[in-house]
Amino acid sequence: MTTEKNRVLIFDTTLRDGEQSPGATMSHEEKLEIAALLDDMGVDIIEAGFPIASEGDFAAVSEIAKLAKRATICGLARANLKDIDRCWEAVRHAKSPRIHTFIGTSPQHRAIPNLTMDQMAERIHETVTHARNLCDNVQWSPMDATRTEWDYLRRVVEIAIKAGATTINVPDTVGYTAPVESADLIRRLIADVPGAEDVIFATHCHNDLGMATANALAAVAGGARQIECTINGLGERAGNTALEEVVMAMKVRHDIMPYTTGIDTTKIMHISRRVSTVSGFAVQPNKAIVGKNAFAHESGIHQDGMLKSADTFEIMRPEDVGLSGTSLPLGKHSGRAALRAKLRELGFDMVDNQLNDLFVRFKALADRKKEVFDDDVIALVTDAAAAGQADHLELKFLRVICGTEAPQSADITLRVGEKDRQATAQGDGPVDAAFNAVKALYPNEAVLQLFQVSAVTEGMDAQATVTVRVEEDGRIATGQSADTDTVVASVKAYVNALNRLIVRREKLGSDAKEVSYKDAG
Ligand code: KIV
Ligand code: ZN
Repeated sequence: MTTEKNRVLIFDTTLRDGEQSPGATMSHEEKLEIAALLDDMGVDIIEAGFPIASEGDFAAVSEIAKLAKRATICGLARANLKDIDRCWEAVRHAKSPRIHTFIGTSPQHRAIPNLTMDQMAERIHETVTHARNLCDNVQWSPMDATRTEWDYLRRVVEIAIKAGATTINVPDTVGYTAPVESADLIRRLIADVPGAEDVIFATHCHNDLGMATANALAAVAGGARQIECTINGLGERAGNTALEEVVMAMKVRHDIMPYTTGIDTTKIMHISRRVSTVSGFAVQPNKAIVGKNAFAHESGIHQDGMLKSADTFEIMRPEDVGLSGTSLPLGKHSGRAALRAKLRELGFDMVDNQLNDLFVRFKALADRKKEVFDDDVIALVTDAAAAGQADHLELKFLRVICGTEAPQSADITLRVGEKDRQATAQGDGPVDAAFNAVKALYPNEAVLQLFQVSAVTEGMDAQATVTVRVEEDGRIATGQSADTDTVVASVKAYVNALNRLIVRREKLGSDAKEVSYKDAG
């Protein structure tokens, strides 16, 4: 049964600790957007920034404080009166403000301000008292707590509580602790420090050894009732505890971690994607909960199992984190069952021998390609009748003139049907010029929907893979090509997409019986 004793507060520091990741700087508007999403998803405390750090941070924290609807808004301050005053100036507008002040208490960190243990203890008393005189919600952190001598840690935590701190955060600043120790540290502090029963203990873990989430959950088992975390685990070095991981772990394994949070988990995917976009930090595909592959199954055995019963290979429902469903991407490990399911989804109903034939060609394609997309499957089906038939268009020759001086131009020879034709065109850059030349030789109404270049190898001689997607009358075709010359790869990919469109146009127009095609665009 859940009681208040089991309620774990979620303190999100994406906008402070997360934003401290090198390169993750967010604009003012982006910070307001992320804060609104955090507030809406039920985060209890949002650490919105470090107000003394810059005018921008101050402005963001102040505005987030004014706009927040439900969450407590917190700002960070070092252990000095000026920082704390500035922090209070920013958070005071919130319905529920909090000041978070900290100082490094481990031997490594005490050496920096060059304070003796007694001098630091005095500083803690003075600064926490000052913060508490301004705000009745004060969090204090002994930075690098996990490398601080036990006796000293116990002493300074007691001083902070006596000075009025309402939350004691125990940071594992350098990701040094391990689950057993993390639980034990909180347990001992609660047992040994006078006044511990009147405050909330928080855990703040970094991921240097890949144990941040495990350490945070262990701290909860030891009695912590606030987890500090960030979306996608964004943060200094290897990052922080990931919000989505701790929340989903407590939800899925409620039997052994009987704690609850106020988080609406269906908002997880959306905020994860927004944080990834605005911070510029891509989420690794195999990241727990929010990675692209977290609910994707490619191997034949797994796909077959998933098609029979989702709980064979999934311990949570994709809908619980805001996804519309499981994905069964097709690749070289996929089996017949998954191919048949994909064909049905795309509107193709095939008899067994048609499927057998297609499966052989699908495997051959999958051997050459990392992932077989819907469009490739459609092409396999619709191109079947065209097998053996030469492509309508073929690039024979390309030369471009490009550089700082406009106009850029392209000279192209294209085989169109049986005949070689030549054209020269200009454009805004060499790719545009070359595409214009192709259009001059093969006039078409296809609209360019996607043009994507990615390097598949490293170095100056990297192969560029170009993907081009075109759309005509609701039909979509994708072409891909790789070359060390990006312009050549681009034109080949474009020509490839046009060839697919031509086949599909002819096929679906004249012989719709052989395959039933539902607009799969
Ligand atoms: O990691 C850390 O110690 C911190 C403190 C400022 C709480 O982020
Ligand atoms: Zn931190």
